[in-house]
Amino acid sequence: MSYFCADHLRNHTKMEDKEVNSQDQILPVDGLGWSYVDGVLHCDGMSLEDLRMSLKREYGHQSSPAHVYSLSTLFANVKKYTEALGPLGKRGVLSYSLKANNNLRVVEALRQAGVTMATTVSGNEILMAMKAGFAPTNIIYNGTGKRRWEVELAIRHRVLLNIDSEFDARLIMGVAKETGVMARCLVRLNPDLEAHTHPYMATALADSKFGVEVQQLEKVLQIVRTGEIEGEEEHVDIEGLHIHVGSAVSRTQVFADMASVAARTLHKIRERGWPRASLINLGGGLNIRLSGGHGKGEEDSDNLATPQKLVGAVLPLLPEGTTLLLEPGRSLVATAGVLMTEVLGTKTNGEVTFLVVDAAMTEVIRPALYGAHHPVTHVTVPSDQERTEVDVVGPVCESGDFLARRCQLHPRLPTGTAVVVWATGAYCSSMASSYNMRPHALEVMVRAPDLYTVVRRPGNFEDLISCYQ
Ligand SMILES: Cc1ncc(COP(=O)(O)O)c(C=O)c1O
Repeated sequence: MSYFCADHLRNHTKMEDKEVNSQDQILPVDGLGWSYVDGVLHCDGMSLEDLRMSLKREYGHQSSPAHVYSLSTLFANVKKYTEALGPLGKRGVLSYSLKANNNLRVVEALRQAGVTMATTVSGNEILMAMKAGFAPTNIIYNGTGKRRWEVELAIRHRVLLNIDSEFDARLIMGVAKETGVMARCLVRLNPDLEAHTHPYMATALADSKFGVEVQQLEKVLQIVRTGEIEGEEEHVDIEGLHIHVGSAVSRTQVFADMASVAARTLHKIRERGWPRASLINLGGGLNIRLSGGHGKGEEDSDNLATPQKLVGAVLPLLPEGTTLLLEPGRSLVATAGVLMTEVLGTKTNGEVTFLVVDAAMTEVIRPALYGAHHPVTHVTVPSDQERTEVDVVGPVCESGDFLARRCQLHPRLPTGTAVVVWATGAYCSSMASSYNMRPHALEVMVRAPDLYTVVRRPGNFEDLISCYQ
């Protein structure tokens, strides 16, 4: 990790004309760390124009596009959860879902901010969570298709495993027997609940691939239950259950419905041989608030569920003595990140004006994958009021390569001007690809008005070809 703390970062860009369009300065997210100062976007007090110049000096053409993270926003997002779970004391646990953003420094920052557990979906995510400082017993491993080495890694380290199916139960049971280490488990339930989100983000409908159907629960418990047979050792301890109904969930009621099913199921698990089972993991899923237009499932409403409302709705439904675990991803990291990108040119084809930038679907796949909306704004707000509707697109050779459609931006942004794509802290860097031989983008974290750290150096051609034999 390189640290940059330099005087040149204090020379904040001066605007020639401070009469800027105030409409442009309304922030699309409610992240505490972002602000427009004299028409220039700042992250935790640092001008993004100054940051850009500093990165350019260091990395030349590899400095753009760049993911920029606000440390204060990460901390503020964690605080919303820890405050909501506060009344539960030790019975309220916050776990971070690494899949949303697995940058080592981001994960470390979340742990330092107060996240106590990590939710993972692969063996390598387990290793990454450990590298970020999480104790193995504070890691959850979840997956519909776990490989043997991943299960063995988890069991040997006393990681908590979510049982996802009958075959998963057999695999976990087999590895636990073989290693002689008791497997700590939750059962992931598929309660057939509507999450009211994009179909690709719904994970607990009757025909979703995730979890154990309610009617299969008994069978799964039988597979892992051996303790009651005379002389036979126990190999699997069921500590509770897990339900995750999907991502970008905006309705509080969905979480209350999950809590009701969870309470009934916990009761069953206790009756069937694990009387001490007491953990209810209600997954992640909470959506974020975005102003401006919105894509499918990304509601912009005053009724949007918040950590406070979620905990308030589920608490009365949980059995006495339950530990409530939440494992958000998006709502912890999305608003802490923007993708800063430079204009390559503007063109008009038919009725559509395209702003072509140097970022692409390789850095932000969500618009192409889910029709998700990520607002785009200027880094320095042009002082004249002229705005036009543009589609912001990248250089990747696909018609689906768009970052945002129908954005109101200045019609003549010169080549090299910077714009930002908002809410890219979640499911952007971690979903990046090298399609078109595009290396991974640079990632920086702003820690103070005059201090940023490079938390991932930009990828290069060597990275892309070093795997060939
Ligand atoms: C099991 C599980 N838990 C938690 C999450 C985090 O969800 P989100 O980022 O929507 O909070 C996911 C993501 O889909 C998940 O699959």
